[in-house]
Amino acid sequence: MIIALNNKCNLTKEEFLTYMTKLNEIQSKHTIILCPSFTNINLYSSNSIHLGAQNVSSYEEGAYTGEISAKQLKKLGVEYCIVGHSERRIYQKETNTDIKYKITHLLQENIRPILCIGESKEERESKMADKVLLQELESALSDLKKEDLNKIIIAYEPIWAIGTGFIPNNDEIEEMFSIIKQKYPDNPVLYGGSVNQNNIEELKKISSIDGYLLGGLSLKINELQTFVNRL
Ligand code: PGA
Repeated sequence: MIIALNNKCNLTKEEFLTYMTKLNEIQSKHTIILCPSFTNINLYSSNSIHLGAQNVSSYEEGAYTGEISAKQLKKLGVEYCIVGHSERRIYQKETNTDIKYKITHLLQENIRPILCIGESKEERESKMADKVLLQELESALSDLKKEDLNKIIIAYEPIWAIGTGFIPNNDEIEEMFSIIKQKYPDNPVLYGGSVNQNNIEELKKISSIDGYLLGGLSLKINELQTFVNRL
């Protein structure tokens, strides 16, 4: 299983150093990927946990104030990068075209993209969820060569489940996973959105889930250890 930890906009330098020490004590046979804030990437240190980033510039390099390139991430040892998180699509107005460029630059640097897709509550209620997912996937992935496509990790995160405590039931998740996997059978697919140490007991009955993208839980080490033990 792949467990990706999205710290989001949390943890100052001092807080992160303490967190990193505790995170390294977590016992797990799974692939854990830590995606800290950019300011903490250089403070990461681990023999067992992989390093990811939460975002990358859609530009290769140059006069783009405040941006961070795939090449810069690569030089810091970043192996994975979240792209298209719904929070960026909503608050930073990131488009499918931006996401496509980001993926291109990441693959050039041999960083594996974790592509987030997911429907809003309205889209689900109007039975548009499958269309939204396929459109997000196709616009990001359709031009990739097979060898590049195989490097993509897909994260299905219903927008209405992120940070809310609500998650779809297992039938609903299985339905979305089967739509994704019919089209992209060779890519790992993660579930994300309000996953915790309690609801993992129910989620783990879904055999098509290849891992989880954790936001809030990534910051709570004790609960995270319980979650990992229950996987
Ligand atoms: P959450 O966030 O686990 O806090 O719901 C998940 C995510 O945004 O990736």
